[in-house]
Amino acid sequence: MKSGGEAEVEKVRIAYDEFADVYDRRYSGLQGEYYKKLEERYVLRYCRFFGKKVLDLGTGTGRFAFSLSDTAESVVGVDISKKMINIAISKIEREKYVDFLVMDGRYVGIKDDYFDVVVSIGTFEYVKNFQSFLREIRRVLRPNGELIFTCHNVISLHLTKFIRKKTRYFYPARHSINDIKRQLQLGGFRLVDYYSTFYFPGFMVWDIYEILSSDFLRYYFIKAVVFLNVLLSRIKFIKRFGGQLIVYARTVQ
Ligand SMILES: C[S@@+](CC[C@H](N)C(=O)[O-])C[C@H]1O[C@@H](n2cnc3c(N)ncnc32)[C@H](O)[C@@H]1O
Repeated sequence: MKSGGEAEVEKVRIAYDEFADVYDRRYSGLQGEYYKKLEERYVLRYCRFFGKKVLDLGTGTGRFAFSLSDTAESVVGVDISKKMINIAISKIEREKYVDFLVMDGRYVGIKDDYFDVVVSIGTFEYVKNFQSFLREIRRVLRPNGELIFTCHNVISLHLTKFIRKKTRYFYPARHSINDIKRQLQLGGFRLVDYYSTFYFPGFMVWDIYEILSSDFLRYYFIKAVVFLNVLLSRIKFIKRFGGQLIVYARTVQ
């Protein structure tokens, strides 16, 4: 059964088809290191992937799918954008083997109870109907399966959130951690833990980064931002206000 929001999903697909050729630039060089320290590190630390069957939902160009394939038994990466998937497939010879498929995350054509873990990074912000995603994730997860996903926080400290509200194609969906907890319960999951990345102060990090004249200054600027992020996210009360939430949940029997 289709869950609505088709026009929105189509906009996202078109946007990523257009964006695909330059997408990986964001994750290279110093900028890439920044995401590794703030995002990948926490996504990967939540779960032991060894010997597990993993689904990377909204895999894009395969960033997480490839890094998980080092330890997991098998990894399947699905994405709605054919161009993003084509780029992921083009990397298979250099990287490890991953099955990449063009699919809408709301209707994954894979049998019930198949995966041990579902990872979905940077994708829930395009999901207006949280439950349609959770329902499908739950279906393909085995009992007591694990889910790790990121989500934009509606109560974040991002200073620029009021200025740059809209991307070119859509408004990102945002949720608070309480909201996510409720949504997870409704969808048959329980929240185990979460972490916050502040990208402090929001996207202004990259505006300041561009202004800095030397690699030396940029290097120490990024180091300082990462340090501030890690510090803030260690404070239980403050971490509720991160720009992006990294959520770890399990299915409930
Ligand atoms: C910000 S990118 C993240 C890609 C990758 N997970 C990463 O971390 O580099 C978001 C991805 O989600 C995909 N996406 C958005 N809505 C989707 C949907 N309904 N089904 C499948 N993929 C979707 C987009 O096409 C895009 O490739």
